[in-house]
Amino acid sequence: MTLHRSFSTSAALSNRCIAYVQNGDPTQVLRSVTFSRLPPPSPNTVNLRFLLSPINPADVNTIEGVYPSKPSLTSNLTSKGLGSSEEPVYVGGNEGLAQVVQVGDGVEKLKEGDWVVMDKPQLGTWSTSRNVSFKDVIRLPTSGLTEAHGATMTVNPTTAYNMLTGFANLKEGDWVIQNGANSAVGQLVIQIAKVKGINTINFVRSRDNMAPLVEHLKGLGATKVLTYDDLNDKSLRTKVKEWTGGKDIRLALNCVGGEPTTSMAKFLGQDAHLVSYGAMSKKPLSLPTSLHIFKNLTSHGFWQTNWTKTHSREEKEQLITTLAEMMQEGKIKAPEHTIVTIGAKESDEEATAKMQDVFANIAQGRYGKKVLLKLEDTST
Ligand SMILES: NC(=O)c1ccc[n+]([C@@H]2O[C@H](COP(=O)([O-])OP(=O)(O)OC[C@H]3O[C@@H](n4cnc5c(N)ncnc54)[C@H](OP(=O)(O)O)[C@@H]3O)[C@@H](O)[C@H]2O)c1
Repeated sequence: MTLHRSFSTSAALSNRCIAYVQNGDPTQVLRSVTFSRLPPPSPNTVNLRFLLSPINPADVNTIEGVYPSKPSLTSNLTSKGLGSSEEPVYVGGNEGLAQVVQVGDGVEKLKEGDWVVMDKPQLGTWSTSRNVSFKDVIRLPTSGLTEAHGATMTVNPTTAYNMLTGFANLKEGDWVIQNGANSAVGQLVIQIAKVKGINTINFVRSRDNMAPLVEHLKGLGATKVLTYDDLNDKSLRTKVKEWTGGKDIRLALNCVGGEPTTSMAKFLGQDAHLVSYGAMSKKPLSLPTSLHIFKNLTSHGFWQTNWTKTHSREEKEQLITTLAEMMQEGKIKAPEHTIVTIGAKESDEEATAKMQDVFANIAQGRYGKKVLLKLEDTST
């Protein structure tokens, strides 16, 4: 990444990023850093302007320093102080939608105005601008996609698609069971399964008013929606048999861990796969040994970051094209979201306070929606 050194006047500091110097609680360590305009891109690089970047659960873990994928330190944002070689920073944000604003020599497949998503983890997407290698981005179609679709393309839809297609060879009419079904990933599992004619049994935490959530998930294509409490109901086994017509359920997707996963796994049939991708309850996963011995259950973990590292550019472009087509056709909705805007005229102190407030709200589960960050810039 090449970023220009700052001018001394604040008026020239038209770019901004949300960064941190050391790991810790996001409400304490995040800082807004303003920096100057990017120079023209060097050969084989492009200058990007970020349009919208999500805050995902893994971003919180990354800032805390407990996530395996780590960003690199950036030391060329400013000439002194925060963001300089005196005090390098980690720029937050793993995914996001950006527009190409300038193309360096030797870049053939990208042009000004193209929408792109990141093909490399932890590039620091909570920024107005970045200079990156053309190899670190994948071009998106712009027609038929919203900014929210693009901003949330590379983490959750890809995870949902790969888990549905990569473990059990499911066919139309088959069944999948999942917990955390109202998570962004869970809602994508429901929609992609629907496209493929696969039925879903979906578990969520119970709440005072279940009806709107059940209606929402069914609107996305959920076959059945139940709560973790229903897993303790002995009659559920008979009901599931009736729904599936006795067909074995061969794929379970685990977002939360703990007791709901132990109970859910008992609904799996012969030679099934349990795929864990999240641990939202922070409780360990415990599975009855008998499921392994008598039903040949296989328990896997899935990490999209690892999939990205181990698959070719062609495979990644193909996956993004497949998902973008589903979005263009209206088969995958953008996640319900709240856009948090940091205005171009807000001071670093104001922007820092706003970001810390956003993370306090996220920690208390106050949004109930994906938070998408829009950093306004005045440089282009
Ligand atoms: N492995 C991968 O490659 C990969 C990729 C993408 C995401 N993920 C992981 O998947 C998980 C979901 O991500 P997301 O972006 O879809 O999240 P999200 O939209 O923010 O949804 C969070 C989900 O977690 C549930 N939840 C929160 N606290 C919980 C608790 N204490 N016990 C049980 N459930 C709880 C929420 O249920 P309520 O509505 O009831 O609060 C909601 O269903 C995260 O752990 C994320 O890191 C993993």
